[in-house]
Amino acid sequence: MKGIILAGGSGSRLSPTTDSINKHLLAVFDKPMIYYPLSVLMLGGIKEIMIVSTPEDKPRFEDLLGDGSELGISFTYREQADPNGIPEALTISEDFIGKDDVTLILADNIFYGQGFTTLLRNAIQNHKHATVFGYRVKDANRFGVVEFDHNQKVISLEEKPEDPRSDFAVTGLYIYDHKAVQEAKKLQPSERGELEITDLNKAYLNRGQLNVELLGRGFAWMDAGTHEALFEAAEFVKITQQRQGFKLACLEEIAYYLGYISKEALYKKGKSMEKNDYGQYLMEIAERKHTQQYWDSIDRHPMLGLVENE
Ligand code: G1P
Repeated sequence: MKGIILAGGSGSRLSPTTDSINKHLLAVFDKPMIYYPLSVLMLGGIKEIMIVSTPEDKPRFEDLLGDGSELGISFTYREQADPNGIPEALTISEDFIGKDDVTLILADNIFYGQGFTTLLRNAIQNHKHATVFGYRVKDANRFGVVEFDHNQKVISLEEKPEDPRSDFAVTGLYIYDHKAVQEAKKLQPSERGELEITDLNKAYLNRGQLNVELLGRGFAWMDAGTHEALFEAAEFVKITQQRQGFKLACLEEIAYYLGYISKEALYKKGKSMEKNDYGQYLMEIAERKHTQQYWDSIDRHPMLGLVENE
């Protein structure tokens, strides 16, 4: 399974904040926005990740994230020259995907909830053709909308409909087989001049090959695409972290618990930032101050493959 994060776009909805910085580099409370979708791919067990961004911003992501070796995984980077839509991330990454399946995530999407790792790993392992994730929202007209029958079989998909047929948004997390690349090449731009991910999903739906996984009411899914949404996401992260003392989307912590990096490497990384809370947190994790609570609260699933770095 390969992973792709799309961190392109013009970010015009966040202007002027994003006039000179890519939206996905903005902070969601205490870390860059892209950390959150990256943590999702890592928790899904994906180790080869392509980051797609604009020509201007690609070097900034490379600066921030490097080649992934510090996290025991691999990052490669590619440009999306113009904001031509989400499916282009797949065609741009054709050689990277090869004959593998691929999980695509939008870089402004934040997922949080007990059991998410298990749900995602199950979805990845049992995956055939295409899988999307549905989440109930109050304002479905802002999103791709999925309608399904009571057997959770998808009946229709619409992109930002004026009058949504259901309250279920399609989140920005998609699992495809490698054939998605050829399907994406056949798409035509929509009225807003972009290739639409909903049209790609419709192609799978028309062949009876689209599966929807529902994220229940215990989940939090947010996209940080507007000022309000960004502020709310930051508040959510702050409150959740402060209550439990665990950080959300702490990439080094995840890499450590997945057995990708050693305790020493984790401590060293923390030490290099010891003046701030993030660095101190990494050092605390390495010193096991949080470990017991972590093991008590983490999703315990046999597939998770978590190892202790002792
Ligand atoms: C995109 C997709 C939409 C999906 C949303 C999730 O919307 O087109 O189907 O529901 O991401 O974040 P956009 O961010 O382009 O408005």
